[in-house]
Amino acid sequence: MKYQFPKNFLWGASTSAHQVEGNTSNDWTEWEKNNASRLAKESRGKFGHLPNWKEIEKEATDLNNYISGRACDHYNRYREDFDLAKSLGHNAHRFSIEWSRIEPEEGKFDEREIEHYRQVLIALKERGLEPFVTLWHWTNPLWVSKDGGWENKKTTARFLRYAERITKEYKNLVKFWMPLNEPGTYIGMGYLQGAFPPQKKLGLFSANCAFKNLMSAYGKTYHLIHKQNPDASVGISHYAVYMLPYKNHIWNKLLVKVLDYIRNWRFLDSINDTNDFIGIQYYHTDNIKWSPFFDGKWGFIDTKNSNSWTTDVGWDIYPEGIYHFLKRAQKYKKPIYITENGIADKKDFQREKFIKESLKQIARAIGEGADVRGYFYWSLLDNFEWDKGFWPRFGLVEINYETLERKPRSSAYAYKKIIEANEIIE
Ligand code: FCB
Repeated sequence: MKYQFPKNFLWGASTSAHQVEGNTSNDWTEWEKNNASRLAKESRGKFGHLPNWKEIEKEATDLNNYISGRACDHYNRYREDFDLAKSLGHNAHRFSIEWSRIEPEEGKFDEREIEHYRQVLIALKERGLEPFVTLWHWTNPLWVSKDGGWENKKTTARFLRYAERITKEYKNLVKFWMPLNEPGTYIGMGYLQGAFPPQKKLGLFSANCAFKNLMSAYGKTYHLIHKQNPDASVGISHYAVYMLPYKNHIWNKLLVKVLDYIRNWRFLDSINDTNDFIGIQYYHTDNIKWSPFFDGKWGFIDTKNSNSWTTDVGWDIYPEGIYHFLKRAQKYKKPIYITENGIADKKDFQREKFIKESLKQIARAIGEGADVRGYFYWSLLDNFEWDKGFWPRFGLVEINYETLERKPRSSAYAYKKIIEANEIIE
């Protein structure tokens, strides 16, 4: 069987500034300092059930794991990292610009940092890597977070000023812009679950304000970019969750229908007029179960995952989910890019299979008319996985955090082979 990809398909990997650059100074940096020891203490409760707990225990219970610090030092080593991406066959790369570097104080733009990212873009171009640029991947400058973060309406205008400067500066270097990364996840984790800064639990009112302000910033940025460059392509990234009804029970089926609408389609429908392409980020599946006594994971809703194929962080893998998602996203009649898809797999036992199975499902959807034009594996490098810290290893390239040595994993070469063939034959 042949699984083919279109000509000119974009192949690459994704990163985000705070997770790889090192030495950032933003709301996350502060939050890490205040929460590292708590996160280390809570790790056994959160991850103790994982089959690999013994292997991760030392790192997960160490508070240094939760401090991003110098991370991968990608800020200084981006050329070396892009050399690697090129040598691994990539022809595109997604990364984010760190707002707190560009505008460390309100209204004061740091020209050196603007020049830095210009050099990053030039380095990508020189290596034939098409840049996909995210303007905001969850971190905020401290002066923004201290003034209410995204709950404050002013943040929208402030973001726009930053976005205007950046998109103008690089308008000749960038075609693909992604103003926001997964606003839904940001709200869910930061304002509902309280696991990320600003750490509000069930702050429904705040969540609603922050979401509205984010989306207003997105819409305005979309128009601003098009005013500057009519040929630009602007899209948002969405965390797609493919859900299955537990045991196919009728109530669970109904629940999945409602949740699927709320988590996935309502959002994509609402931005349809300001979205040139759809950026899908797909990682895992949930088996949804109705919990009549309000004792589920989310009250009336519980997850009973099969755990038949899981990652190092315990997420259920279900590559077929992306096929169904792509099929349904066809209704928008827009180009689709998979802007993230990846697996935490320290030993690299499953990554090759994960990439292959996911790509086979993507090719299947393409064969049936889905206009998918690119795939970005998450992530090029091992990196700082937010509130989990450094122990989850998502990289095609392994990082030795002591020496900062980079070493492509064997799956990175398997991915390269697929890229070179532009197809999978099995
Ligand atoms: C996505 C985030 C990305 C990374 C992966 C594992 O939701 O956008 O930064 O953390 O999950």
